[in-house]
Amino acid sequence: MDKYETTPEVLNIAETCAASISIDDLVALCEDPNIPPPLQTSKKLTYGQIRGSDALRGRLASLYSTRVPSPLSPDNILITPGAIAANFLLLYTLIGPGDHVICVHPTYQQLYAVPESLGAEVSLWKLKKEKKYIPDVEELESLVKENTKMIIINNPNNPSKCNKLEFLLIDTCTFRMLVG
Ligand SMILES: Cc1ncc(COP(=O)(O)O)c(C=O)c1O
Repeated sequence: MDKYETTPEVLNIAETCAASISIDDLVALCEDPNIPPPLQTSKKLTYGQIRGSDALRGRLASLYSTRVPSPLSPDNILITPGAIAANFLLLYTLIGPGDHVICVHPTYQQLYAVPESLGAEVSLWKLKKEKKYIPDVEELESLVKENTKMIIINNPNNPSKCNKLEFLLIDTCTFRMLVG
């Protein structure tokens, strides 16, 4: 990866992430010309705010409040260094010994390895090539147990890239039957 990631003319066709962009590209996405630039070089580099900067949390809250009836409060927003930390906090908060977790597979290893490391029993909801890697809800039914606490879905799926969301259209009755 080190050898080829930034090599000119090399086209990375195995990448699982969105294409990388520069800070200039990011700034160009901002529609409000009055927003100060993201890098303030005169600002002292203190430890920072534990839950993420108030300014960032406030802006994200307003971004995600534009089309909803009740605005989101910055208190509902927590900044983490990457999705990996957000996933860990969520799993560490909700999962423990005695819990059962269902996780699609294959997927990003953290999603099934962390619940296991926290003492939970993990069942893999296996994606199949012949089903175009779309999770099969009937198979999910056979995996659910009395103590199932979490069903982990990764969409778009890494590594298959399947992004078909139709399987999520589980009607309310089926869902109640699944989760009791
Ligand atoms: C499904 C999935 N979740 C989480 C992560 C981690 O994301 P981040 O790099 O933002 O910590 C990745 C990274 O590839 C991923 O594929």
